[in-house]
Amino acid sequence: MDNERIAQLEQLAGAVENLTESPLYEYRRENGYHAVIGEGSPNASIMFIGEAPGEQEAKAGRPFVGAAGRVLNDLLESVGLRREDVYITNILKDRPPNNRDPRPDEVRLYAPFLQQQIEIIRPSVIVTLGRFSMDFILTLFDMPEQGQKIGALHGRVLEANNERGHLAVIPLYHPAVAFYRQDQRETLWQDFQALKPFI
Ligand code: URA
Repeated sequence: MDNERIAQLEQLAGAVENLTESPLYEYRRENGYHAVIGEGSPNASIMFIGEAPGEQEAKAGRPFVGAAGRVLNDLLESVGLRREDVYITNILKDRPPNNRDPRPDEVRLYAPFLQQQIEIIRPSVIVTLGRFSMDFILTLFDMPEQGQKIGALHGRVLEANNERGHLAVIPLYHPAVAFYRQDQRETLWQDFQALKPFI
């Protein structure tokens, strides 16, 4: 089971690395960046989904290794989790120039890879980091909360259904809020504790 999932994830990584039709492919090559597929346990029951790799991530080929990643590491530690216990990925697998917001065409292009990751890993909890990831997951699972703002949904445990049954979706603010919004930083910390019953 483990090996099968690892093989499927490796195949997916190969497809993303060769995604020449991506508008971000040339930018990756020109800058010597890497695609950032995701990392963690292929059997994780908790999956974290961020927005897109930043510069540190694109240089390392790993998600959440820059400043926002340090916040995420601290949050994980606060509930007794290590990065190896969970799976961490993003909607976009390549860095957009100057960390601009993902464009709808980019989200559409990379979406099938994230959907495959969800199918391979089969998490029982999806934690969305930031509003792009939240909107993506609410739409993907056709959830009744679609269209609601992150300010209304953050920290709540929502229920989604797919062909395999139920899963929990927990929308959180993006860890980068810790740098520019002191109030949301504290909220993020409190919201993170919603994960405890699933550990
Ligand atoms: N922000 C994200 O959304 N993802 C990362 O991997 C890093 C920063």
